[in-house]
Amino acid sequence: MTIEYINGKYLSSGEAAVPLEERGHQFGDGVYEVIRYYNGHGFMLEEHLERLEKSAGEIRIDLDGGIGRIKEIIEEGVEKSGLKDCYVYLQVTRGIAPRNHLFPKETKPSVSMTVKPASALTRDMVENGVAAVTHADERWANCYIKSLNLLPNILAKQTASEKGCYEAILHKDGRVTEASSSNAFIVKDDTIITTPLSREILPGITRAALKDVCDTAGIRFDEQHFTVREMKQADEVFITSTTSEVLPVTTIDGDPVKDGKPGNMTKLVLELFQARTQNR
Ligand SMILES: Cc1ncc(COP(=O)(O)O)c(C=O)c1O
Repeated sequence: MTIEYINGKYLSSGEAAVPLEERGHQFGDGVYEVIRYYNGHGFMLEEHLERLEKSAGEIRIDLDGGIGRIKEIIEEGVEKSGLKDCYVYLQVTRGIAPRNHLFPKETKPSVSMTVKPASALTRDMVENGVAAVTHADERWANCYIKSLNLLPNILAKQTASEKGCYEAILHKDGRVTEASSSNAFIVKDDTIITTPLSREILPGITRAALKDVCDTAGIRFDEQHFTVREMKQADEVFITSTTSEVLPVTTIDGDPVKDGKPGNMTKLVLELFQARTQNR
């Protein structure tokens, strides 16, 4: 069953729980993680916890009880859900206090979580790939922090959806950063290329897993910048995220990528990635 949790309390579905003066609610003053459980196992759970700790630290939220306490909350929630394949959404905010931009004193962070059944990607998406649009990256300077402030991401993805597309691939003056809710990759001459880590992109956990998969399999994986133009001329394009795994992108701005079908390298790394999710 689906689980809803906040600050030590499990809720019945839809039960009101967040006071109006909760800083996540009023300011988006917090950070979050999305973790996928495969067959009862939190895939790259430690890496997600480390990223949460880093995100929280960067915005100066002290995790009450540290990352160990967060792990206990997640594991208890998943156990209560009885779900073996699920998504854990966990967010930490600066807590509940009278509205004021300044940090409240002596306010404990709020920790909330949902655990929901994982939905497999549709066969159509995996077999035929998805459509994407390109969109200006209008986000702030610290996109390596997994912040609750997702307004530019939401607007970009909504624009994509209104054009019948699944994802918006973001760029700064023609240089690709990542996508609205995933990391972006191209394949050129059998080499996988993705934007190097910096403050401009989220260090995706799926990206890290894929890099490791490629290292193990001897597939060339280059972290270097590429342009929208290079992407449109690439052999293959794909995106990665916890919920999308490895997803081929077969049209961009209405034009097919190569022959408009998922490429062999994308299929190969998807297979290798999926094998890894089952083996850990
Ligand atoms: C902006 C952005 N980039 C990349 C990702 C992929 O990260 P991960 O693989 O850790 O899910 C996400 C996931 O939500 C995201 O929102």
